[in-house]
Amino acid sequence: MRIELSFTPHQADEAALRDKTVVAIDVLRASTTIITALHHGAREIIPVTTVESAVKLSAKLASDIVLLGGERGGKMIQGFSLGNSPAEYVPEKVKGKSIVFSSTNGSQVMADSRYAREMVVCGFVNMTQVVNFLRERSRDFILACAGTNGAFSLEDSVCAGMVIQHLLKDDSLGVSLSDGALAAQTLYRSHGKNILKLLQSTEHGRHLIEIGFEDDLKLCASVDSIPVLPQLDGNVIRLKRDAEKKDLSPAIATS
Ligand code: MLT
Repeated sequence: MRIELSFTPHQADEAALRDKTVVAIDVLRASTTIITALHHGAREIIPVTTVESAVKLSAKLASDIVLLGGERGGKMIQGFSLGNSPAEYVPEKVKGKSIVFSSTNGSQVMADSRYAREMVVCGFVNMTQVVNFLRERSRDFILACAGTNGAFSLEDSVCAGMVIQHLLKDDSLGVSLSDGALAAQTLYRSHGKNILKLLQSTEHGRHLIEIGFEDDLKLCASVDSIPVLPQLDGNVIRLKRDAEKKDLSPAIATS
């Protein structure tokens, strides 16, 4: 099992992710928000890169089931119903909804995965689900970190390093690491002991504290608190068991 890693979306674009097994990581906060939304009953998340395409796409969906969610600069986008705080995605708001979601960095990686062989969404909150999925698949994959505004982010890399560390415990997998994966494993070993403290110290974590989202860091740092696995199914993200059901027709209008 060869493990590759990209630290930013620029290192692994749509072409680089094509036909691969992709693990998309945006700990703060897109991964954690999407995992929370689906766990709380959202029907699906549709990741899009621009605000304009989010608005256009939402207009094609039935208005009683669609919600617009996401952020720019960490704050809710004007005209959207939801921001990018996992705490907002409560069952009363999201159950049964199709959420068109656009965030600065996380949506980019997820949208870039549309020609991947498969893509799962990873955060600290669903670590064991991701590791078990990769162990079962037992094939090469790439950890695609969202980073922050085109640059490296420590929290995504440490999360990737935690995935690697778990898989390395299983000798039967024959894990081999790219240099990027090796670097993430090293970062996990030096920064992975106290995840909340790590999130409070990173650039994006400090920005979120400054703009009033300190409580989100606790949610994002809570390892294995949400036992679900979001997976790309066509161009929507659903929980793995729903994605595998053949009779769940897509909510997106085809015309
Ligand atoms: C992103 O996708 O850039 C992040 O999730 C930003 C945020 O924390 O809202």
